[in-house]
Amino acid sequence: MNKKIVFATHNEHKVQEVRTMLSPLGYEVLSLSDLHLSEEAEETAETFEGNSRIKAEDIARRLPRYAVLSDDSGLEIRALGGFPGVHSARFMEGEGYEKKNKAILERMKGIEDRRAAFVTVMTYIDEERKIEKSFRGEDTGRIVSSFPEGKQNGFGYDPIFFSDALQKTYGEASPEEKNRVSHRSRALRQLFAHLGGRA
Ligand code: IMP
Repeated sequence: MNKKIVFATHNEHKVQEVRTMLSPLGYEVLSLSDLHLSEEAEETAETFEGNSRIKAEDIARRLPRYAVLSDDSGLEIRALGGFPGVHSARFMEGEGYEKKNKAILERMKGIEDRRAAFVTVMTYIDEERKIEKSFRGEDTGRIVSSFPEGKQNGFGYDPIFFSDALQKTYGEASPEEKNRVSHRSRALRQLFAHLGGRA
């Protein structure tokens, strides 16, 4: 019988990434949408680890018989003290990402140190509530100097993040290229190894 893991998100794109890696290990990955559940926990922590745990523990309380996985992620810009960091989703809430990205480039005007990293922390809680583990994935790079022209792949801050590993922006990368190096895939590979896979 397949083991069920609830992934504490409504983002189908993320669910698909996790499903692709965990299905071969015999795990069935369910999203909050699959279970008709809302996200109730408020992300009040100041770290990715903290917010990821808040989400996982909330769902574990509400679904006592399932193993639970959560993630929290964002973009950290070194010269801005880690901003937008845990506030990546809430920064200029209500505005589209073109505006948010342009606002970040505006803040970075004249700043030479453009180093940045995408970060994901995933938390896993097993169904017997004996194990709670966090996995941190990072991809380093820098913030581009001008807003890129033309159609972009991906979402969020992808167009303004130039990945060291890819030597191009996430916006220019194909989904496969991004998945090879991204913060989320790096955290996911650690979870995959923890669950017995050979990543
Ligand atoms: P979440 O907590 O994983 O939902 O991510 C918070 C926010 O970080 C998202 O709303 C995006 O703004 C940003 N973010 C996270 N991962 C990515 C990514 O892979 N590309 C671009 N932006 C991302």
